[in-house]
Amino acid sequence: MSNAIPYPLAPTPFPKDVMQIISDLSEMHALACRLRREGISIGLVPTMGAFHEGHLSLMRRARAENDVCLTSLFVNPTQFVRGEDLSRYPRDPEADARMAEGAGCSILFVPETEAVYPEGFATYVEPTRLTDHLCGLSRPGHFRGVATVVLMLFELTRPVRAYFGRKDYQQIKVIERMVKDFHLPVEIVPMPLVRESGGLAMSSRNRYLSTEERRSATVLFRALQAARSRFEAGERNPATIRDLMRDTLLSEPQTVIDYVSVSHPETLEELDRIEERALAALAVRIGPARLIDNTVLGEPMADVFAEGAV
Ligand code: PAJ
Repeated sequence: MSNAIPYPLAPTPFPKDVMQIISDLSEMHALACRLRREGISIGLVPTMGAFHEGHLSLMRRARAENDVCLTSLFVNPTQFVRGEDLSRYPRDPEADARMAEGAGCSILFVPETEAVYPEGFATYVEPTRLTDHLCGLSRPGHFRGVATVVLMLFELTRPVRAYFGRKDYQQIKVIERMVKDFHLPVEIVPMPLVRESGGLAMSSRNRYLSTEERRSATVLFRALQAARSRFEAGERNPATIRDLMRDTLLSEPQTVIDYVSVSHPETLEELDRIEERALAALAVRIGPARLIDNTVLGEPMADVFAEGAV
């Protein structure tokens, strides 16, 4: 019989099917480093909670493509700009935990605001250029808050891959740029936009809408569909497509337009002529909610339609 100590020591098995909830930053960091060392890959899904099918689709994919799906749930105060009510952001922690576990999530990271932004916090990531357009104009400082918290999450959770939805197209571009610029060892995986059966893009903010407003809100999708059909019929003048989207939106009297844009899908600069592809993007206010939506003209529609009341 050999007394030899097995070397290397077998890694402690990691329980994947029972979700653990971690709120302590040091504990999260230590576990993430241990998993990295042991070659257990983490797929990160950063979220602000109030889960719907859009979030769950990211978690399922993260679980399928990595050893572990880690979801962070943190309503990030620095990405809310003046006039936006952080305290009214929808929160439902118990339902969120059940849904995340059901979607195959093994770790739910729910840090406290005071731990993420302790007294004296003074350092931010400042994205530029891409933020001179679209939501960057109407929500100044928003992407600075997003980039700052996402960089912190990458550092704390050490993911191999991180999953972001194309519902927030500009957010993906800003994060992809940050990853390139800071040479971060993480792959950004853009995920299809998930819609309700009537076309409304799923969003935590849809919880603010009344039944009537939800019905009106399908006008965003109708405006994008109109843009797609006109583009497919050969239209290449962005001004014509912007007008068409604007007219469609205004056919719903409750709609207040923030922006209607046809821009370059990589630089996000407004176009005066469409070559191959263009990002058609909208932001409107309907009742209490600011809603955004987008589609890429010249690309097949990759959106997913899930069940859901409209
Ligand atoms: P949140 O709005 O909770 O969204 C979390 C992730 O889910 C984002 O990547 C978002 O694009 C994705 N998502 C939301 N609705 C979707 C839909 N209908 N279809 C597909 N994906 C969808 O985005 C944030 O949180 C924050 O800015 C965050 C990145 C967590 C930083 O605080």
